[in-house]
Amino acid sequence: MAIRVVTELREMQKIADDLRASGKRIGVVPTMGFLHEGHLSLMRIARKHSDFVITTLFVNPTQFGPKEDFARYPRDFERDRRLAEEAGSDVLFMPTTEDIYPAGYATFVNVEGITDLLEGKSRPGHFRGVATVVAKLFNITKPHVAVFGQKDAQQAAVIRQMTRDLNFDIQIIVAPIVREADGLAMSSRNSYLSSQQRKEAVVLFESLRLAEKRIAEGVVESSAMREEMARHMTKFSAGEIDYISIADHETLSELDQMSKGKTVLISMAVRFGTTRLIDNIVVKV
Ligand code: PAF
Repeated sequence: MAIRVVTELREMQKIADDLRASGKRIGVVPTMGFLHEGHLSLMRIARKHSDFVITTLFVNPTQFGPKEDFARYPRDFERDRRLAEEAGSDVLFMPTTEDIYPAGYATFVNVEGITDLLEGKSRPGHFRGVATVVAKLFNITKPHVAVFGQKDAQQAAVIRQMTRDLNFDIQIIVAPIVREADGLAMSSRNSYLSSQQRKEAVVLFESLRLAEKRIAEGVVESSAMREEMARHMTKFSAGEIDYISIADHETLSELDQMSKGKTVLISMAVRFGTTRLIDNIVVKV
């Protein structure tokens, strides 16, 4: 069936109310568009867990810093509409900025603690913008289940925390990272990379795999591992490391030692020119 494009908030809420009244289970996939296979995998997962899939497309200004890429964030509505339809979405919800943040808008959601680390440290205010827009999208689309990608591991942790703390009655599913054939995690921002940068960008995944290998070999010292990952990065690319983190999977706090049985989140952010890429893996020590 052809996807329905909805731009009005009230119309979206009415669709959600009618679906709920008829006993239908709603799945939502929040996106900022310029869809790739990673997003489409989230829609397919939402499909499995619900009767009706709403994909939201909104490039959210409040989650971009003043020097970040809001203005040049890639946009291609026609392509997104087609891809979302092919992946089984029933509605593409595309609100306007004026409707989401009308004049006089003054309410923000601030998840404390974990938002001070990693991405939150490098991008102050980012998660305040993410949590706020996701809370609003939850209230507008009224889902039973929402699907996010593991590539934004910290975002997923922030949304889980917000969902618990604000008693949203919504199941949060975090779906595996989808990678290109050479291992680069799919991202709308990969489109910014020059062909040389694109070739080099595979070093993120290579460094993460290297860390995974060292853990399997019995390395427990985080600092040695971080250094080895950084050496690999600088040897094979011109990427500038923002951070390399070896952290507790739940709390995201940095670990000096990785103790046996612990699940660790190894994550990194690297700049290629003006493009900032992130990637991660979760490893059981
Ligand atoms: O992951 C994203 O694309 C965005 O951060 C989200 C969750 C759609 C909120 O704007």
